[in-house]
Amino acid sequence: MSKNIKILQDKLEQAKLGGGQKRIDKQHEKKKLTARERVEYLLDEGSFEEMGALVTHRTTDFGMQDQIYCGDGVVTGYGTVNNKLVYVYAQDFTVFGGALSETHAEKICKVMDHAMKVGAPIIGLNDSGGARIQEGVRSLGGYADIFYRNVQASGVIPQISAIMGPCAGGAVYSPAMTDFTFMVENTSYMFVTGPNVVKTVTNEEVTSEELGGASTHSTKSGVTHFTSVNDVECLEHIKVLLSYIPQNNTETPEHFPVDLEDEVRENLDSLIPDSPNKPYDMHEVIKGIIDEDSFFEVHKNYAENIIVGFSRIGGRSVGVVANQPMSLAGVLDVDASKKAARFVRFCDAFNIPLLVLVDVPGFLPGTDQEWNGIILNGAKLLYALSEATVPRVTVITRKAYGGAYDVMNSKHIGADLNFAWPTAEIAVMGAKGASEIIFRKEIQEAEDSKLKLSEKEAEYAETFANPFKAAQRGFIDEVIMPRNTRRKLLKAFAMLENKDVQRPKRKHGNIPL
Ligand code: COA
Repeated sequence: MSKNIKILQDKLEQAKLGGGQKRIDKQHEKKKLTARERVEYLLDEGSFEEMGALVTHRTTDFGMQDQIYCGDGVVTGYGTVNNKLVYVYAQDFTVFGGALSETHAEKICKVMDHAMKVGAPIIGLNDSGGARIQEGVRSLGGYADIFYRNVQASGVIPQISAIMGPCAGGAVYSPAMTDFTFMVENTSYMFVTGPNVVKTVTNEEVTSEELGGASTHSTKSGVTHFTSVNDVECLEHIKVLLSYIPQNNTETPEHFPVDLEDEVRENLDSLIPDSPNKPYDMHEVIKGIIDEDSFFEVHKNYAENIIVGFSRIGGRSVGVVANQPMSLAGVLDVDASKKAARFVRFCDAFNIPLLVLVDVPGFLPGTDQEWNGIILNGAKLLYALSEATVPRVTVITRKAYGGAYDVMNSKHIGADLNFAWPTAEIAVMGAKGASEIIFRKEIQEAEDSKLKLSEKEAEYAETFANPFKAAQRGFIDEVIMPRNTRRKLLKAFAMLENKDVQRPKRKHGNIPL
């Protein structure tokens, strides 16, 4: 055997072992897979091709020249998921705690550049103690090189981040700029500054889990879109997500043809309660419209008053945005608006048609909302839908009140097809509130003002609590029986498949941030 063959074999063996068996065992004790195990699990069997296994850091400070690990704490390369090309990097916690050095960053940038040139998703599996402390600013420069690429790739190729261990300090900003973030419960956390700094600065006592664990970011901050109970589930979820999205912004998602038979869903006819104040579960509507078991919900536990997620209708990938009457009566608030706007923008960037299901009593009133900028945040959703050029279809199931009617993919802001169920109420506001304002004098002067109010309420409801006024104007294309919704949507999305809208040239719009 030639000397160099032996050297190569030794180096590749070293690279496989990362920071050594002892540290691998420690990783397993924490119920975490190693970087290599994660990559192997994520990609189709035998498809992984590594790039940069022999890269080592160049630092000589603090005795670092004596601590050389092949691969330098990150496994990078490409392979396939469901036979489609993806690029991947996985930080190896067994090497300097997965800390990011200049060379570690170069490896990540290299696969990002490849992914951009070729037009394939990039998946980052994060498990890192942050900037490699022994390298100082060189490490910080490495982060910025990655951030810059995240921004250039945004809207061009799908970018997915999984947080499978620590992710702190500047490191958080790469996942934040990618399209979707996954977190593993109990073994991952993300924060800009950790509990010790928090204690020093604000005197708050908080654990890492409370400050930035998966449950915090999936419910309170919305930083993560998905949580998983362990590494394996997290990687499985990434594969599912990939099945709904295209390789890049010039392609459309894969079409999975389904057998279509009786597409009538009679149960939908009786779903809407008689009282407009009674909730029902919008998930039932979604279920009654999409292909069986095809809903993949995004941001499930955050801003539950709006539902967003991927689905398939007739095998075509469709992004669903739906008010949820079960939570806060389906009202639009700051968090719901931000959640839906970001989802809409992803779908639009990646050629995924949108289905908007509407049952919205308006925007949430109150000082909390106003002071937290419901005006600007509500505008984000309005803006995101108005700029979207993908096929856009709306179904109003019940309430479509006030400005929220406009925002929720109305005809006026460019929706292609707007359907309403006979139970739809398209009005400036609910009948009671409206009557109290416009008939105030009459009600005050009446002998029995309560009776008068209910009479006027009924009169207003008779006039406006229906979809027919809007249909007369053409703001609604068709009032449909709920049972026929799936049939209508199958045809609508097929009909809209070749929709092509060109916007005037501009550098970029100025979405209210
Ligand atoms: N730079 C260089 N090495 C680092 C590192 C960093 N940022 N973070 C961790 N390491 C090394 C540790 O020295 C240790 O090395 P060893 O295996 O040779 O002993 C190894 O990674 C594992 O770290 P350890 O602290 O033992 O793991 P832990 O699970 O107990 O804690 C952290 C993980 C991330 C909480 C902890 O390592 C930490 O706080 N790191 C510093 C975070 C930071 O401030 N980063 C810089 C700002 S972005």
